Amino acid sequence: MRDVAIIGIGCTTFGEKWGSSFRDLFVEAGALALEDAQLSGEKIDAMYVGNMSAGRFIEQEHIGALIADYAGLATHHIPSTRVEAACASGGLAFRQAMIAVASGMEDIVVAAGVEKMTDVEPGASTDTLTGAADREWEGFVGATFPGLYAMIATDYMHRYPLTREQLAQVAVKNHYNGARNPIAQFQQEITINTVLKSTMVAEPLRLFDCSPITDGAAAVIVAPLERAREFTDTPIRILASAQASDTITLHDRRDISTLDASVAAGQRAFRMAKLTHKDIDLIEVHDCFSIAEICAIEDLGFCKKGLAGRLTAEGETALNGRIPVNTSGGLKACGHPVGATGIKQVYEVVQQLRGEAGKRQIDGATIGMTHNVGGTGATVAVHIMGVD
Ligand code: COA
Repeated sequence: MRDVAIIGIGCTTFGEKWGSSFRDLFVEAGALALEDAQLSGEKIDAMYVGNMSAGRFIEQEHIGALIADYAGLATHHIPSTRVEAACASGGLAFRQAMIAVASGMEDIVVAAGVEKMTDVEPGASTDTLTGAADREWEGFVGATFPGLYAMIATDYMHRYPLTREQLAQVAVKNHYNGARNPIAQFQQEITINTVLKSTMVAEPLRLFDCSPITDGAAAVIVAPLERAREFTDTPIRILASAQASDTITLHDRRDISTLDASVAAGQRAFRMAKLTHKDIDLIEVHDCFSIAEICAIEDLGFCKKGLAGRLTAEGETALNGRIPVNTSGGLKACGHPVGATGIKQVYEVVQQLRGEAGKRQIDGATIGMTHNVGGTGATVAVHIMGVD
């Protein structure tokens, strides 16, 4: 297996982007990544595109071909493949690109993610997202994603000492980071009271415990490590790529407050990278709801079960904390265009490792981790990246 490095990154701003179409978003992110790698399109050997539900959000399928066409690569006839794993589509597209290069099949590969979610009315977006759960056992009986994560939060708060204020601090911290990220959907700081007084969505989760509905796209370009310096002075090496699955329904789980797929993918990633938690300088985790960040920190092994709320309240996950979590603002403040999120997480880690993260820069960061979840944890992708 060959070593693989990231040689270029690009990302649109995230938000309600009514002035840009689905294809505009992808082309913008792809062009930024090509410019970053000082590469022209004809050098691309293959593309993997994470997208959850263009069929329902914009009534368009056949995304791999569409993207290759609008990227100006149709006449090069390169393989272009859509990857779908709900909100983990981006993380899995990145993993497929990495595997293609590691195997020696391809050299220069684009991993991208794109979603245009705001063109449908809110009921339709909520219903489309429910497709990431089990439609027969969960969706048809009225469960929505906020509802499913509310069940996780209720179970968690019943069993572990997590206070409502500690949970709110996840959103406060992520909005603080988002306020320092020029691509973030929400760039305003909030207080614990903002969260506690916001509209109830699904008890105990309020508006500010939820990630929003977002349009956006992100792209990264990977290449064999041995060729990376042809394109960049700062290649970022992919040290580990892990993926795990679990039951799609919550009711079939051993424990609904522990995402076993996160545990498995995290352990595999640490084994592959031959690293321990102390080596990681920052993590981008899948905080689709505030409780999801609490679970992720614990399931990845950064603290014992039940302690992530305290860790957050004590500032250990803040920009200047022991293990900064979601320096981008996370899904909560940066936004969550579902198919693009896994790639945006990689984009953030690469910016941090290159020292290009501006006001949210973690001093001296050399190793970062991403954690991307599909559904309530039926798919998880974990990657570890480091300065070469
Ligand atoms: N956090 C903070 N503010 C938010 C927000 C969020 N998550 N979502 C919307 N807002 C703000 C909007 O900016 C708007 O503010 P304004 O009135 O100042 O312009 C206001 O709240 C109303 O926005 P609207 O789009 O009407 O919200 P909504 O009530 O239709 O949707 C949620 C709110 C929480 C239901 C929706 O964002 C949601 O479903 N989130 C979860 C998405 C999800 O499940 N993703 C998959 C996870 S795996």
